[in-house]
Parts: sequence; C-alpha cells; structure tokens
Amino acid sequence: MINVVAAFEKHWSAVAGASLVAGWAAVTAVFAADPNPTTVRDAAQYIGVNDCALCHKGKKVGDQFDKWQAGPHSKTFEVLATPSAKAVAAKLGIADPQASGKCLKCHSTAYNWTEQRQTTTIKPEQGVVCESCHGPAKNYVPRVSTDLVLEDPLGQRSLMDFLNPFTLRAKTCYSIITMDDRQKAIRAGLIYPAFQSCTRCHNEQSPTWKPDRYVTKEGKHVGFDLRQNFVKIAHPMPSSQ
Ligand code: HEC
Ligand code: HEC
Ligand code: HEC
Ligand code: HEC
Repeated sequence: MINVVAAFEKHWSAVAGASLVAGWAAVTAVFAADPNPTTVRDAAQYIGVNDCALCHKGKKVGDQFDKWQAGPHSKTFEVLATPSAKAVAAKLGIADPQASGKCLKCHSTAYNWTEQRQTTTIKPEQGVVCESCHGPAKNYVPRVSTDLVLEDPLGQRSLMDFLNPFTLRAKTCYSIITMDDRQKAIRAGLIYPAFQSCTRCHNEQSPTWKPDRYVTKEGKHVGFDLRQNFVKIAHPMPSSQ
C-alpha cells in the first residue's frame, strides 16, 4: 500500500509540476473539488464500459477494467438491494431504491445525475462506469472499427492483440488514436484529472454521508478524503508506476 501511495504522489507531483514533497498538497488543492459541479454532461455522448474494456483490460496496460470491476463503483447498483439501503430509502418514503432516480442519480451512470434515465447505452445495473469520472467518451475514444488501419496483416496475432493499440504501438497507425495525445483528448471531452468528478457524488447529499467518516493525514475529520479514497480505487498505467 505504501508503494501505491508513493508512486501515486510521485506521478501526480510530476503532473502538477510541483516538488515531490509539495506534490500531494498541490494535487488536492487544485483538483479535489469539481470547479463546476453543476455542469450537465451530455448523455448522448456516453459509449459504455464495454468499449473501454476492449483496450483497458489486461496486465500489460494496468488492468483498469478488472480493477474497476473488483472495486466499489461496479457495485453501486447491487448495494441498493441490501437491507441497509432499503432502510435508508424507507425513511425517505422510497419503496425500491433500485428503481428510484433519487438513488440512481449517484448510484449509476445511466441517470447522469438526474432522477430519470438519460441513456440506453449504459444499463443502471452497470453502476458507476469509467465515464462518470472521465467524461462521456464518444469524441475522445478512438473508433476501433473505422480508425484502425491494418498495416500488419493479422498473421500470428490474436484478434485481441490486433485490436489493442498498446500492442500495436510500434507497428501500426498508433498516431491516429486520440488517446495518444492528452490535450487533444481533453479538448474532445476527456476529464483529466478525473479527481474533479469525485465530489459530484461523494458529498452531503448522499443519505449515508457521514461528515466524520475519514481522518485526514492532518487529523481533520471529513466525509470524503481524496487521498485515502483514491488509493482504494487506483488504476495507473504501468508507465506511471
Ligand atoms: C481503441 C483503444 C482504446 C479504447 C476503446 C479506449 N482507450 Fe483509453 N487509452 C488508450 C490508449 C492507447 C491510451 C494510452 C495513451 C498513451 O499512453 O499515450 C489510453 C489512455 C487513457 C486514459 C489516460 C489518458 C492520459 O492522458 O493519461 C484514460 C483516462 C482513458 N484512456 C480512458 C478511457 C475510457 C474511459 C474509455 C472508454 C470510454 C477508453 N479509454 C477507451 C486506448 C483506448
Ligand atoms: C449525492 C449522491 C448520492 C445519492 C443521491 C445517493 N447516494 Fe448512496 N452513496 C453515495 C456515495 C458517494 C456512497 C459512498 C459512501 C458515502 O460517502 O456516503 C454511497 C453509499 C451508499 C450505501 C452504502 C453504505 C455506506 O455507508 O457506505 C448505501 C446503502 C446507499 N448509498 C444507499 C442509498 C439510497 C437508498 C439512496 C436513495 C435514497 C442513495 N444512496 C442516494 C452517493 C449517493
Ligand atoms: C471513480 C472515478 C473513476 C472511475 C470509475 C474510473 N476512473 Fe480512471 N482514473 C480516475 C482518476 C481520479 C485517475 C487519476 C488520473 C486522472 O485524473 O485521470 C484515473 C486514471 C486513469 C488512467 C490513467 C492512469 C495513469 O497512470 O495515468 C486510465 C488509463 C484510466 N483512469 C482508465 C479508466 C478506465 C478504463 C475506467 C473504467 C474501466 C476507469 N478509468 C474508471 C478516476 C476514475
Ligand atoms: C457517479 C457517482 C460517483 C462518483 C463520480 C464517484 N463515486 Fe465513489 N462511490 C459512489 C457510490 C454510490 C459508492 C458506494 C458503493 C458501495 O457502497 O458499494 C462509492 C464508493 C466509493 C468507495 C468505497 C467506499 C468508501 O467510502 O470507502 C471509494 C473508495 C470511492 N467511492 C472513491 C471514489 C473516488 C476517489 C472518486 C473520484 C475519483 C469517486 N469515488 C467518484 C459513487 C461515486
């Protein structure tokens, strides 16, 4: 765990352009809060988690998909079926939390922070997918089917190797993939850093919010501590570790 924290802080001090010691402070100061938490995200631009899995799965790339699947955000729909969720809902006059927009606005991506389902591309059952944090992806994610030009005939490669640009980097048309250029991807809608997204859900409007759930490094009691919480869901690329 120590290593994860150290690697994380090192990476972010580099990105934030601060010294190693001041790194974390700079990250939290700049990114902890959503600068504009009321910005509406365009639900028509969601593509869903299966597309991300196509490239972000496997040890070589850092297993982002499997880490998400094993973590809390893939289970935010399931948790609404527990007796404690039903008890929370009952107090608010809600019979079935898994059918209520009042819960699914934060417990799923499909509701996009509203009380109505906003997209059919993502099922509420899938919970909080990558795009809740990284932004609706239609314009920043490479279009696998139309953008990947075959330079190297399939040959000995498996289909997955072939589709995965991480394995194609050296050989084929990697440069046409939007995600090789962070600034280009950000202009196309990628939210990076994605810390800006956490407090859209982790806030006092959550009925289970406990203002003293975490104790920060400095000894303060808070309802959400980015430092401790991000370490629990970290999914770095191997190049950042
Ligand atoms: C066709 C393959 C492909 C698909 C599909 C894909 N990605 Fe990526 N993604 C990449 C590659 C390749 C990189 C690494 C680029 C690099 O290291 O220069 C990357 C990097 C990223 C980064 C890090 C960006 C940065 O600047 O460090 C994020 C965040 C990301 N992807 C999110 C997603 C999400 C969310 C989805 C699904 C909505 C997705 N990706 C779908 C290929 C893909
Ligand atoms: C403002 C966003 C938001 C809304 C609305 C929301 N939740 Fe949550 N919920 C969260 C977050 C974030 C967590 C993680 C723990 C925390 O910070 O409260 C969570 C955790 C939970 C948990 C796990 C228990 C725990 O303490 O970790 C249950 C059960 C739950 N919510 C039930 C509900 C029910 C039922 C509704 C609808 C009546 C609802 N939530 C509405 C954001 C929300
Ligand atoms: C709960 C929010 C959240 C979810 C869900 C989430 N991410 Fe991230 N992701 C982050 C944060 C925060 C970072 C740190 C850097 C940043 O802001 O992008 C990150 C970083 C990344 C990176 C870059 C890692 C690096 O070393 O630079 C990739 C790639 C990525 N995420 C892909 C994904 C994919 C694919 C999914 C879904 C399978 C996903 N993320 C789900 C919040 C999230
Ligand atoms: C779209 C809403 C949403 C966003 C955005 C979001 N979360 Fe969550 N998160 C939840 C919900 C709902 C739960 C409760 C899941 C459960 O209890 O099973 C949760 C649970 C968690 C948990 C496990 C419970 C706990 O409190 O320890 C961690 C850790 C966490 N989130 C970290 C983050 C981080 C870090 C970010 C930002 C990078 C983030 N989340 C962004 C909705 C969200």
